[in-house]
Amino acid sequence: MTTYKLDETYTPEGAYTYENSREAVRRLPFPFPDDEYMYSMNLEPHVPAGEGALKARFDIDEHYVSECRHRAATIDAAPGVHYLALPHMMEAQWDMLELIFESYAADYPQHFTLTKNGNEWRWQNRLLGLDDTFTFGDPTTLPYEPLEYATRQAQGEFVVLEEKDGTLIIGAGMTTQRADYSLRFNIGMNFTEFHGPVPKLHTMGILDRALKFLLRMKPGHPVRRVNWSLTVNPRLETSVETLPDWAPDRATVTAENAGELVNLRIELQPLHRLPRSNAIVFPVRTYLVSLQELVDHAPDWAKRIHRALASLDPELVDYKGFHRYHAAAVEWLSHHDDGAPLASGYPWYPDGIQPG
Ligand code: HEM
Repeated sequence: MTTYKLDETYTPEGAYTYENSREAVRRLPFPFPDDEYMYSMNLEPHVPAGEGALKARFDIDEHYVSECRHRAATIDAAPGVHYLALPHMMEAQWDMLELIFESYAADYPQHFTLTKNGNEWRWQNRLLGLDDTFTFGDPTTLPYEPLEYATRQAQGEFVVLEEKDGTLIIGAGMTTQRADYSLRFNIGMNFTEFHGPVPKLHTMGILDRALKFLLRMKPGHPVRRVNWSLTVNPRLETSVETLPDWAPDRATVTAENAGELVNLRIELQPLHRLPRSNAIVFPVRTYLVSLQELVDHAPDWAKRIHRALASLDPELVDYKGFHRYHAAAVEWLSHHDDGAPLASGYPWYPDGIQPG
């Protein structure tokens, strides 16, 4: 049974009290299927797998309450930076509210209940102590716009895209956990444009294939992929707008303190087609886990990340923004890798790499 942490923090002001239990580490969607890592077309049907992060449509874990509080504080500190929605996205906003609430209520009935009586809906969120009634389709009956209201109660971030002229264009988003990009800059951009800064993707042909795949998506048949990066300290909010606050931390990492300071940042991305608006949502459920926590609770995953980081293409090291402390992290991890062979495949497959 999950014990929800109520007051952990993700900021220097709060002294970064965020940490993972052993159970939280061992249920992660660990993103390294092989000793060497390179971008790939890693899209697969989003069907329940295993007992960990891939069991529910939208995963919640022990950090749910603290993450929702952090989201509220982050939005209030910089209105108009982390949550944006263009006016024509209102139908997609209602689609999103329904998708999140129906999924949470079905997967976690002990915490959430959605009761529909025609368009009069009642939403009970026992983890956050909410019991609200509203009229579906009438935004004046909610305290926030539908997307903001629903995602203030959800873990992870959500980028909503409309389909137009054979591509996908960003029209709305709740992004209080951005890994080094700007929602304000990217809103209105299409699939090729917002992937512009990523190295190798275009030449590998991944982008064209991924877009074709996404455009064929149907409601009720979500797909998922995982991505990852590294972040210094358990800091969720690493947007372009706040770069001066967090970028200097990169210079504080040494081969001695990397285990404590460097966090693997795992992104689970389950994409859905929305039924009324035909929009697509790109959720990014971010998990932070320190290298020390991996060594303590998932030793085989620590060995795997050592090998994947040691052999990582320098262009990816640069793009992902950790060239300053890459060598220190590899050095620290090398003391926890005995070189034993490891299984191939994601851990949610029966013969994939398990935590150890
Ligand atoms: C429609 C949904 C998607 C959205 C909104 C989205 C958005 C983004 C954004 C904003 C970035 C950061 C770009 C920057 O540095 O400014 C990014 C990176 C990236 N995207 Fe996407 N993306 C989507 C789907 C996909 C798919 C389906 C794939 C591949 C199958 C993909 C592959 C990548 C890769 C490999 C990166 C680089 C990530 C890294 O190295 O950390 N994306 N995406």
